[in-house]
Order: sequence, then structure tokens, then C-alpha cells
Amino acid sequence: MVKVTVAGAAGGIGQPLSLLLKLNTNVTELSLFDIVNAKGVAADLSHINTPAVVKGYQPKDKEDRTAIVDALKGTDIVIIPAGVPRKPGMTRADLFNINASIIRDLVANIARTAPNAAILIISNPVNSTVPIAAQVLKKLGVFNPRKLFGVTTLDSVRAETFLGELTNTNPKNLKGKISVVGGHSGDTIVPLVNYEPSVRILNKKQYEAFVHRVQYGGDEVVKAKNGAGSATLSMAYAGYRFAEYLINTLSGGPNSYKVPDSAYIYLPGIEGGKEFSQKYLHGVEFFSVPVVLSNGEIRSFINPFEELRVTEEENKLIGVALKGLKGSIDQGIEFVNASKL
Ligand code: 2OP
Repeated sequence: MVKVTVAGAAGGIGQPLSLLLKLNTNVTELSLFDIVNAKGVAADLSHINTPAVVKGYQPKDKEDRTAIVDALKGTDIVIIPAGVPRKPGMTRADLFNINASIIRDLVANIARTAPNAAILIISNPVNSTVPIAAQVLKKLGVFNPRKLFGVTTLDSVRAETFLGELTNTNPKNLKGKISVVGGHSGDTIVPLVNYEPSVRILNKKQYEAFVHRVQYGGDEVVKAKNGAGSATLSMAYAGYRFAEYLINTLSGGPNSYKVPDSAYIYLPGIEGGKEFSQKYLHGVEFFSVPVVLSNGEIRSFINPFEELRVTEEENKLIGVALKGLKGSIDQGIEFVNASKL
């Protein structure tokens, strides 16, 4: 029995993500929340002949809080793609003003209604929205760092695809062989690929172009959509890939990859994470690392410096990422501290 709630289910990411979740036969209940059209999307998906019972929840007006409470009741997992996407010329940080309060209010509802749920945050800027969620949960006394995830899987998906193209390798075979760590925005995104033998055929110029494309791949989509938003379909696929990993561990499934997918997490809440943050990350507490999941939560993380043979070049990229992350994390925490919950 696994209940999954999607908050922002009628949006560009929410709809394909909900479709993929409906196809997962381990999901028994799929709860779709949005401020518009959630009932329509739910009715549509409910005709698909898989076991998940689909229900749609949308508030009657701005004051109505019953819809979100009903959507969240008894849920095991909440996935949040809610919010506004980027337009050309915007960075993910430019979304802070609108999306920060959406995440704060949704997470406060989760804290009050489903405090034991695992929370997967897709809404940008992930580098700040995850610290916002953590701070809300802390303030409301229900923070479990093993169950809060910033979804950075699209960076891994892109890295596998682009590296596959460059090395003429089936990208499916690169899953679990390369990793992306850091954050989820521009130069905070750090692909770690040098431990994968096929990378050695890349020359310096190709390698640098690859790193840049992984870091700024999202911009390609924003530009191509020309004002109509950012990545939705690939984001839904990536969000689903991480959710599926989590759902599998709830349903007794094994983790079959040597290096599992990364997620942006609060390290001091995981065994060994505080020491890792102090020793390698100048005390930065939120960082994306490969996470080993078990029974719907983080069991441990993989320390890239000790287990993934980080090169000097990659280490430099991590140094740049840490500088960018610090400000985004502080901004998120200060925003919640200045808010009334
Ligand atoms: C991206 O990387 C939408 O943040 C998402 O394209």
C-alpha cells in the first residue's frame, strides 16, 4: 500500500509525472492536488487500467484549505512540482520570490497533516526550496532529514544522455556508473564522471563542453520553448525515476545500482553527514550526493571524495559550486525565519 500525492499535479511537470506514477503498480493511491484542473487530470488518469486509485483535489476558493488537507491525509510520499517555471533569460534563482512562499505553505500543510511523509521537491530554485522546506519542518518540530529530498535526477539523466552521445555508448548503460553532485542550478551542478572508463576517450575541450552542457542543459529547453516554460517532460521522467527508486524501497525492492541516484539533502541529519560537510564542503549543509535508500528513507550517502575518485578538476568544480550554494541556502532559511507559519 503506497499513497503518493503530487502537489502541482495539473501543471507541465505534474501531468506527465502523474501519468508515470499511475503506471507504477506498487502505487495503490494517487492523490492529485492543484489549484486548478486537478479533478480533470484525475478523472482522465483514472481510466487507465492499473491498480492505483486516482483522486483529484482542488480548493473551491483562496481560503479553502480542506482540499490540500484531504489530498495529504495518510500519504507516504509527496512530490512537489508546484510553482512557476523559468522564461528565457531567467535563472532558477529568479523564481525565488514566487515559489518560496508556495513551498513554505505546502510544506507547512504537510508538517501538520502528513508529518511522516517523504517529501520530494522539484520546484525551483531547488538550492533554496529544500532549505525552505527543512526550516519549515524544523520550526514545526517534525523535521526528518532522512525523508527530505531535492530532486536533482534530471542532472544525472542529462549527464548520461550527453555522455552517451559523446562516447557512442548506450546512455542506459551509464546509469549507476556516473554521478552528479552539488546543487541544481548552473555551476552548482557538478558531474563526476572520471571514474567511468568511456570518459577517457574525451579530449579536454570535449570534457569541458560536456560539463557545461550538463550545468546549463536546462537553458537549452527554456530557450527552445521560447517563453512557454522550462523542462517538463524530461523533468517528469527524472522526478519519476527518483520516486520509483523510493517507492521500490517501500515495496521491498532492492537497489541494484552500485552508485544510486543523487538527491539534494540536509547532510547533518544523516550519519556521517556533519563530518563530511565540515571536512569537504566548508560546512555547507545542503548538497546533492548519491543516496542509498531503504524503506522509504535515506539509509546512508556515498561520499564522493572517498568512494568516487574525485579528480582535481572535479574538485575545483565542487569549490565553485559551494560558493553558489551558500547564498541560496541562507536565503531560503532567512525567508522562513522572517515568515509566520
Ligand atoms: C531543469 O533542470 C526544470 O530545473 C529543471 O530544466
